[in-house]
Amino acid sequence: MLASASFFICATERKHMSDLKDVVAAHGGIRPAARAMGIAESTLRSRLSRGSDIQVTLREHKTITDLAIANGSVIIGSDAHYSPGRITTAHKAFCNVIAEHRAELRAVILNGDLLDGGQISRHGRIGWQKAFSVKDELEAVQERLGEIESVAMGLKKLRTKGNHDERFDTRLASQAPEYEGVPGFSLADHLPGWHDSYRIDINDDTKVIHAVANGMHAAYNNVVKGAGFHVVTGHTHRLQVVQFRGFGKLRYGIETGMLADADQDEFHYLTGKNANWQSGFAVLTWRDGEMLYPEFCAVRDDGKAYFRGQRVA
Ligand SMILES: [Fe+2]
Repeated sequence: MLASASFFICATERKHMSDLKDVVAAHGGIRPAARAMGIAESTLRSRLSRGSDIQVTLREHKTITDLAIANGSVIIGSDAHYSPGRITTAHKAFCNVIAEHRAELRAVILNGDLLDGGQISRHGRIGWQKAFSVKDELEAVQERLGEIESVAMGLKKLRTKGNHDERFDTRLASQAPEYEGVPGFSLADHLPGWHDSYRIDINDDTKVIHAVANGMHAAYNNVVKGAGFHVVTGHTHRLQVVQFRGFGKLRYGIETGMLADADQDEFHYLTGKNANWQSGFAVLTWRDGEMLYPEFCAVRDDGKAYFRGQRVA
């Protein structure tokens, strides 16, 4: 385990700071505000004193990123499996929604599986199916992320590590362990504009992670077993929200769909079987530290994509 260390990815988020102060004022003090936000009083004091409500904490080998949003939104896309020579409708819509709604966004989150890594998979080849080279895939990832970066100026750019992304480092770590630490031997070295971790914790009530449960009831199982947290996952390629109201608060299990197209070459492993997948992404918004009902952009079967009633691709 590495020693704890923390740093701010944006030290002068004055607007967010005033949002946090508004919450405290609305609740009549730090203690009731902290209780309403579901965080420790000391945590809220520390955020107020640090001058920003957005911070990243490095813990246990970059496991968790912390993000605090009193008022504002994050856009979350996942499972792009970026394919050389293809720009999907969901990716275009993702960029357009960022450009259109940048003022309300605090962060862009890519929730895993940017890279497919078909040639470095631990799964054996099926027949003579072809897979793109790592080099071509990596270039596609860099090009698409460059397009996102061009419309996400000033926003935090965070990504979680998906099982497909991990193929890049895992193959090198297992085949050439002596090269550990050499620049270029980690996927992160090739995506310098993006802060990576396994999980992103938002406001002490939300966990963003590539995958927890599997299967058709993944979202329900995630929110039930999440024990009081909203749980936001990719991996299943489904786009939906499932609510769970226990004896405590209303919580959501959210699946963030895929930025990929279902007919990409990378998914030849389906070998003709159907899959309950959906291209699109989610936008999550907090007001006074509480998450609103999740919003989605889903690519329709006719190839059009709408968000809040407006066509975005
Ligand atoms: Fe995955």
